[in-house]
Amino acid sequence: MGTAILCLLLVCCFCDQVQGDPSFTIDYTRDCFLKDGSCFRYISGSIHYFRVPPIYWKDRLLKMYMTGLNAIQVYVPWNFHEPQPGMFNFDGDRDLEHFLDLTVELGLLVILRPGPYICAEWDMGGLPAWLLHKKNIALRTSDPDYLNAVDSWLSVLLPKIRPRLYCNGGNIISLQVENEYGSFHACDYSYLRHLQTIFRVYLGDDVVLFTTDGNTNKELKCGTLQGLLATVDFGPVDNATKAFKLLRRVQPRGPLVNSEYYTGWLDYWGEKHASSSAEQVSRGLQDILETGASVNMYMFEGGTNFGYWNGADFKNTYKPITTSYDYDAPMTEAGDPTDKLMAIRSIISKFRSVPEGPFPPPTPKYYYGLVSLNKIGDLVDFLDVFSRGEPFVTQYPITFEDVKQVFGFVLYRTHLPFDIPFFIPLSSQLNGVHDRAYISVGGRFYGVLERDSISDVNVTGNAGEWLDVLVENMGRINFGADVNDFKGLVGNLTLGGDILTDWVMYSLDIDGPIAAGWPYVPDNHIRMNPQWQSRTGATFYSGTFQITAVGDTFLKLSKWTKGQVWINGFNVGRYWPARGPQITLYVPSNILSLSQPNRITILELERAPDWPIAVFLDRPILNGTLPRR
Ligand SMILES: *[C@@H]1O[C@H](CO)[C@@H](O)[C@H](O)[C@H]1NC(C)=O
Ligand SMILES: *[C@@H]1O[C@H](CO)[C@@H](O)[C@H](O)[C@H]1NC(C)=O
Ligand SMILES: *[C@@H]1O[C@H](CO)[C@@H](O)[C@H](O)[C@H]1NC(C)=O
Ligand SMILES: *[C@@H]1O[C@H](CO)[C@@H](O)[C@H](O)[C@H]1NC(C)=O
Repeated sequence: MGTAILCLLLVCCFCDQVQGDPSFTIDYTRDCFLKDGSCFRYISGSIHYFRVPPIYWKDRLLKMYMTGLNAIQVYVPWNFHEPQPGMFNFDGDRDLEHFLDLTVELGLLVILRPGPYICAEWDMGGLPAWLLHKKNIALRTSDPDYLNAVDSWLSVLLPKIRPRLYCNGGNIISLQVENEYGSFHACDYSYLRHLQTIFRVYLGDDVVLFTTDGNTNKELKCGTLQGLLATVDFGPVDNATKAFKLLRRVQPRGPLVNSEYYTGWLDYWGEKHASSSAEQVSRGLQDILETGASVNMYMFEGGTNFGYWNGADFKNTYKPITTSYDYDAPMTEAGDPTDKLMAIRSIISKFRSVPEGPFPPPTPKYYYGLVSLNKIGDLVDFLDVFSRGEPFVTQYPITFEDVKQVFGFVLYRTHLPFDIPFFIPLSSQLNGVHDRAYISVGGRFYGVLERDSISDVNVTGNAGEWLDVLVENMGRINFGADVNDFKGLVGNLTLGGDILTDWVMYSLDIDGPIAAGWPYVPDNHIRMNPQWQSRTGATFYSGTFQITAVGDTFLKLSKWTKGQVWINGFNVGRYWPARGPQITLYVPSNILSLSQPNRITILELERAPDWPIAVFLDRPILNGTLPRR
């Protein structure tokens, strides 16, 4: 890093203010931001480019502009851009610079939150899972291995940001350092100081850097640092005056900011759908604006956790987040304005003029109806297709991280060591299944093991039959002390009390072959075999459908149990209607084809319906009735 910094210092100047240049600073006497010398406050909304298809970025930003916002706030997820150490991806749906260009085009300012940890209910809070290749790494601290990885990432990211700073003629007015660090147990000030130094080295001394924390004394103590503007986050149920009073204890002067004013909340599988009323949210916004504070609404559009990108929380138990990140936000997951948006717009109009003209209409939504699906076969029939190389053979189970697999599924198998004529329990005694395992013996499905909830499943079988344990990573923990969240079998399994050994472990790449067109079969030529009539265990289904108009649609798999679904090779996400509350999956128009049949491929993990169909609706169902668990 040393040489890179030196070179930057030699060739660049950072926001050295000359009269008349654009400037964005803090006035500690008048307690406000100063934009080009005048007091300024922002009314901003959060949007995550990584949760919205790129073709819709401009549409969503335009709607935010039309609501009367003068800024947007956006996270940068490190794990999305550096999938392997030193391998960077800023293309297509990861084209951060294109997204930032669009904000310029629409006249919006940007508050950037580059982490390196972001939470965001995103896998591992945005930290790359490869950090766990060092087993005892102390994430979010001064651990040198962690800091080296952080420095390397920021040395790639921050130089892209520098020319976009407001003081350099761009539209980025401020950057957040870390994220809610005061909620993390480590309270490592030298780590925060290290980040501050790196940000300053790449961005200069004048750019506004800030921290964000929950509004409690403890959080504000460990999350703030001299030289970084302290801000808080709180929602409509909190008392704004009280929250800002608390902030004033650590930040006696300068602008007041709520960096995350909650417009709604996230959903967990198996819990009630979260919502908050337009009335409550807009009233709380008015309270904040009346204090003269700046505010960012989190989220303004939530979007979607496509693929495997959802995170999970840990509160007494592991709680994975749903595929939809609709958030009950002012703009829906599919980018449509809601009553909440209109209520917010009318509050904003009391404080600044909102753009005139008609509000952009919702994008078209289509009902495509029923698609019937055929069984392709059981997952274990296609290990030749999906296995990443030769299987690993080990005495005791090893983790996803040990075999350098980040997402998805790993198959662990071993031969039954003895005959089991009557049911005996296969057990995960130390809660060692991260996060869910689908159990079969000799191809017969027996049930599931689930982290923090199901530790035994009864099986029978004959000595020598394969015992298959297909383990699903349901999303790494994104918040709190448990972010070192290894996946797979992180403990031994026992059979009738004996530790099972001699595992054959298949690291699986299911997405690669499906993106390349697997299962290739034309619709009328599904391989049939009587033994494939079974509808349980991990099984592939596929079918095709044609459309005559392209628009967004919502996939309903209501009688299916749990699994993963791809359309034309794009991983639409996890479905789990048996657990709820999310029933439909958002299918954006850009993955559909007018000219060719569209292929839907499903990996059902537990039980497919007798009549395997998919239905495409023109509206979402995110508030399904929760069945009993
Ligand atoms: C909010 O907090 C302030 C300051 O602590 C207090 O004076 C006020 O009564 C509170 N408002 C409500 C509605 O509780
Ligand atoms: C396993 O079978 C035993 C004996 O039939 C029964 O008592 C036990 O409840 C079963 N356990 C599970 C998890 O089904
Ligand atoms: C499994 O048990 C063996 C023997 O007790 C132990 O050495 C090993 O660490 C255990 N493996 C895991 C993943 O817990
Ligand atoms: C969700 O459904 C439940 C049960 O039908 C209902 O009571 C609740 O109001 C619904 N919530 C929303 C936000 O629609």
